[in-house]
Amino acid sequence: MTQSVRTAIFPVAGLGTRFLPATKATPKELLPVIDTPLIQYAIDEARAAGIERMVFVTHPSKPAIERHVMDDKALRAELQARGKDGLAEDLAESAFCPVADDVRFVMQPEPLGLGHAVLCARDEVLPGPVAVILPDDLILGTPGALSEMIAAHEGGHMVATMTVPREETAKYGILAVTEQDGPIMKARGMVEKPAPATAPSREAVVGRYVLDASIFADLETQAPGAGGEIQLTDAISRGAARLGLRGFRFSGQRFDCGSKAGMLAATLHLASQDPDYADVFAEFGLTAEPSRAA
Ligand code: UTP
Repeated sequence: MTQSVRTAIFPVAGLGTRFLPATKATPKELLPVIDTPLIQYAIDEARAAGIERMVFVTHPSKPAIERHVMDDKALRAELQARGKDGLAEDLAESAFCPVADDVRFVMQPEPLGLGHAVLCARDEVLPGPVAVILPDDLILGTPGALSEMIAAHEGGHMVATMTVPREETAKYGILAVTEQDGPIMKARGMVEKPAPATAPSREAVVGRYVLDASIFADLETQAPGAGGEIQLTDAISRGAARLGLRGFRFSGQRFDCGSKAGMLAATLHLASQDPDYADVFAEFGLTAEPSRAA
């Protein structure tokens, strides 16, 4: 029987340099798509997937992350005093309650890479495989990408993938696919940013992972890779031969909200579906539904 996935790790300790100056004082993960911060979409996706414990790997310079994630009683009381009960209820529902919810914060003192951030969560995870969610990869859709992956996970490492045009392979980690069965692909490893001519497939890895617990031992001995950082993909590739590696092509729509173009695309996409913004779209001569996500 496969073990259940009880813990989700949210690495949110990065510098967010692509969004400077916006990220000088505001963590990238708190930048909103319309009115909802990226991290909230990720939390909601993990909740819908039945995750029991959420572990946030953050940085001492980003206290606003914890402030957003946890319940703020004083703010809710203030809203209620002003007759805004609905708003107060919405806030209570989306935030974590320190008593009822199992939520942990650990620090990554220096942004030494995504793999290093995941390793920092090691002492806080529950037994069994773990999920990793990168909040700047926004994936919209029902069921959520993580729910789909957990339902399909049968041990080993699993990474979320999406098919990209061949000319774009150099922007992603690309899966070396050996077999495909519907949305699930067996792979022998991953290649970081291959040129289109040498890319082993068009399946690009994006920010959702379900990983065997041995990932922590592999990360501990992982030498720095690209950019001098401890790369999660390197440690996953090392485990692939031993454990098996699968790609999962999720059904939702993904936006790269780590980039400004992706953030704009996500905002336009959600706004185009909301009648409240119909006048804005008309004013700027925009069609209601963009044809393609960034
Ligand atoms: P990114 O590489 O997209 O984030 O990492 P970044 O480094 O903050 O952004 P840029 O490239 O400078 O603009 C994806 C996720 O991994 C986290 C980030 O916070 C983000 O949520 N991360 C990255 C860490 O937690 N620690 C790291 O050392 C690196």
